[in-house]
Amino acid sequence: MRLHGEVAVITGATSGIGEAIARRFSEEGAKVAVVGRNKERGEAVVSAIKSRGGTASFFSVDVTSDKDVKNMVDSVIRHFGTLTIIVNNAGLVVPGTVIDMTPDQWENVFRTNVTSTYLVSHYSMPYLVKQRKGSVINISSEAGLKGFKDRSAYCAAKAAIVGLTKAMAVDHSGSGVRINCICPGTVETPMVQRVIDCHANPVLMREEFLLRRLTPYLGVPEDIAEAALYFALPENRYTTGAILSVDGGALAK
Ligand SMILES: NC(=O)c1ccc[n+]([C@@H]2O[C@H](COP(=O)([O-])OP(=O)(O)OC[C@H]3O[C@@H](n4cnc5c(N)ncnc54)[C@H](OP(=O)(O)O)[C@@H]3O)[C@@H](O)[C@H]2O)c1
Repeated sequence: MRLHGEVAVITGATSGIGEAIARRFSEEGAKVAVVGRNKERGEAVVSAIKSRGGTASFFSVDVTSDKDVKNMVDSVIRHFGTLTIIVNNAGLVVPGTVIDMTPDQWENVFRTNVTSTYLVSHYSMPYLVKQRKGSVINISSEAGLKGFKDRSAYCAAKAAIVGLTKAMAVDHSGSGVRINCICPGTVETPMVQRVIDCHANPVLMREEFLLRRLTPYLGVPEDIAEAALYFALPENRYTTGAILSVDGGALAK
């Protein structure tokens, strides 16, 4: 139980990577705030955690809403008595070049990936800094470090998360709060399944994802949860401002 006494907010924990992080942190004793919009999926994640003896609650939040995020941070601290770990994981990919993306689509990708990370940090960092303890884990992407075809807004938004992580680390590491970032490569989640299904040739799309890697397989959400656990563990006190690729070697290729 290496996260005993910790309370974690995990955005986008109703699905995929966020759900795996919520389950993994709970296995290590953290109390978990499962944050997302879909109540049914959120409550299912909470039930699964509780059935294994963990403690979790669902918080219905649109992470692009200033008001929702502020209320959520206040409610989590009231509900669990403290807050020590933030995982900014909620995200959205909309395909398109700068020519064919509409301003609304562009804005939506930025609000969901980047503004949400700012908002959750804006409302929770004062608390973490005051208690001089905390770990913030921002989920970027392989797309935050490389250019990908038809992913203009997503690449730009995920690169912004890398930059924001470094800036937050510079601002707050001296206050005892560590801020780190994970850049996952393709991970088998509903998000990726949607991308594959929407492609004109789904088999080819999957093959393309695979060919980018050194490993003969794609990632699973648990691979990213294990990396997030490393950043969350208080004993890893010397790690801050780090950008960790968990991508089957794609960046090295
Ligand atoms: N899968 C990959 O290959 C991959 C690779 C690199 C990076 N990533 C990043 O990893 C993160 C998780 O991706 P995933 O693959 O696990 O995706 P997913 O299965 O589609 O899950 C996305 C999560 O984000 C939440 N979300 C989206 N918009 C939201 C909003 N406005 N307010 C609150 N919650 C919102 C969704 O919750 P609700 O539906 O309940 O609102 C859902 O829980 C994302 O940031 C993604 O960009 C994924």
